[in-house]
This record gives sequence, C-alpha cells and structure tokens, in this order.
Amino acid sequence: MKQILLKYADNGDNNFETFLQLNTHKILNGRKYINDDEVNYLLPIDKIEADREAISYAIRRCLFQKYFFAPIGEKLNTGATVLDIGCGPGFWIKDVGLDHPSSTFIGIDIATTQFPPHDRHPSNVGFLRCNATHGIPFPSETFDFVHISMMCTAFTEYQWYQVIKDVVRVLKYSGWVEIIVSDPLIKNLGNAGKLICEKQGININIHATMPEIIDSVNELEDLEHVSAEYPIGDWGGCLGKYAATNLRKALEGIVYLSNHLKLSTKECDDLLTIYMKELNENKSSGYYHRYFARKAHIS
Ligand SMILES: C[S@@+](CC[C@H](N)C(=O)[O-])C[C@H]1O[C@@H](n2cnc3c(N)ncnc32)[C@H](O)[C@@H]1O
Repeated sequence: MKQILLKYADNGDNNFETFLQLNTHKILNGRKYINDDEVNYLLPIDKIEADREAISYAIRRCLFQKYFFAPIGEKLNTGATVLDIGCGPGFWIKDVGLDHPSSTFIGIDIATTQFPPHDRHPSNVGFLRCNATHGIPFPSETFDFVHISMMCTAFTEYQWYQVIKDVVRVLKYSGWVEIIVSDPLIKNLGNAGKLICEKQGININIHATMPEIIDSVNELEDLEHVSAEYPIGDWGGCLGKYAATNLRKALEGIVYLSNHLKLSTKECDDLLTIYMKELNENKSSGYYHRYFARKAHIS
C-alpha cells in the first residue's frame, strides 16, 4: 500500500482561517464576523463583542438613566408592539420587556450568534434573524415603537435613508421611532477608524446627518434630540475607564484595522495603547445622541 502523509504548513497562503468560511460567519484573527459581501458591518458578532456591547449599554444606561425618551411609556404599560433593529445580545429589549410585561417586543439582527438563549429572556420578547437593509419583514403599521441603537457602523448613509423610510412604513400612525448614535469625536488615531469606515461606505459621523435623514421622510414629525457627554480615559473615574475599554475593544474588533493601517497586529496594538494614553492626557470625551420622532396622525 502506498501511503502519503501530508504536513500542514501555515505559510500565509495556506492559512487555516482562509478555509474557515462558515455559512453565516467567517473567522479572521480569531474573531467571528458576518460572512456576507453585501453587509457593511465592521464589528465582530462573537462573545467578546457581546461583552463589549454590555459595557457600552451600561455607559448609556448610566448617562441617560432611562430606557427611552420618546413619550411611549403609558402605551408600553397598557400593551404596545415594539421593534428593536440590530438588537445584538438584546440587553435593551430584555430590560424593557421585563419592565413592560403587557407589551410585545421583537428584536431583529443579521446575526443570531449573540441572541440570548430561550430561557434567558422574558416570554414577551422574541428574536428574529434578518438583514434590515433588505426590508423589515413585517406588514405596514405593525409597531407602536421602533428602537435603533448603535447601528453607526452597520449602514451606509444611503441605507440609513432606506431603513428609516421602511421604519415609517412599519410604524403605526402616531407611533414613535428612537435612534441612538455615537459621535466619534476621537483624536490622534491618524483617522484610521474613519478611513476604514469610509472604505466600506460607512459614515461614522452619521449622527450629524440624522436630523436630515429623519426630515427626509415627510411623515415623521415632532423630532427631538437629547445628547450626553461622557469622559474617555482614567481621568473620568470608573465611567471614563470603562469608556476607554469600550473604545479600545471596538477598535480592536474592527475588521481589517491592522491591514488597513499596514501594521502588524503587534504594531496596531501598540498604537492603540498610545492612543488610549493620549485620550487620557487630553481629557477626551465622547457623545451619545438620541433622536426621536413620531409618525404623523392619519390625515
Ligand atoms: C454595535 S451592535 C448594537 C447592538 C445593540 N443595538 C446595542 O445598542 O447594544 C450593532 C448590531 O447590528 C447588527 N447588524 C449589522 N448590520 C445589520 C443589518 N444589515 N441588519 C440587521 N442587523 C444588523 C449587528 O449584528 C450587531 O448586533
């Protein structure tokens, strides 16, 4: 019998991760990403990212002290239908669902990897996989409230216009939409994060365009804007420390960051360390913005 023993050699061209193209996700540098050329999302969809999103969610909870600003509380107490677009691990939807047992909550996300297990969310909360840019898979006038949080790196500007138009379609008359976005007033990274986003057609400054996007849909009215400033770095105490961790972990997760900067993983890591030091020395801060508006009454 003739026998052949093949030996594996990782020579760059023959990298194991090249072969690890699973159906719904791909693995790069040990992190899990959406495997769909049509999807622009830059961040991973794994447990490490879910842990980062937990920090990011806690920062916003601490800053805003409210789950929502749209005047929808009464309706939620009596029974409303709520949609959370890009719900991720479902931190928000689980909390609000628990607080409002008479209402029904549906979280949609392109990735199911972060959805909580069935026994880890209230029974009035459900999750569905879908790409929001392909149309929201619900009939017109289904929801009293639509929540969209931290989708800054998920949609191109054009897609934002499309998604908001579709949100208005699925909103009931007099229903509310609330959108939370961050403001990347981040200094001294040589604009790397910005460049990466632009490369994928993402506008990380989308918060500045949000009022225009909302205004572009004639049916939305009573637009309001609430923003909150927070420290980034040790100078800002416990919250500042976690905000820096959140930012660093988000940047570490951005797909192809080191490739784009033409740096090795180690060099990229060192650069982020310097960046974090600078954020602290400069007493840098960031902003979160919430925009909420109502679908006009039927005329
Ligand atoms: C940064 S996370 C925000 C999670 C959550 N909304 C929050 O505020 O904590 C963005 C989420 O959007 C999802 N996403 C990205 N592109 C999407 C798309 N085209 N349709 C639906 N979900 C998408 C990602 O899988 C991820 O869970």
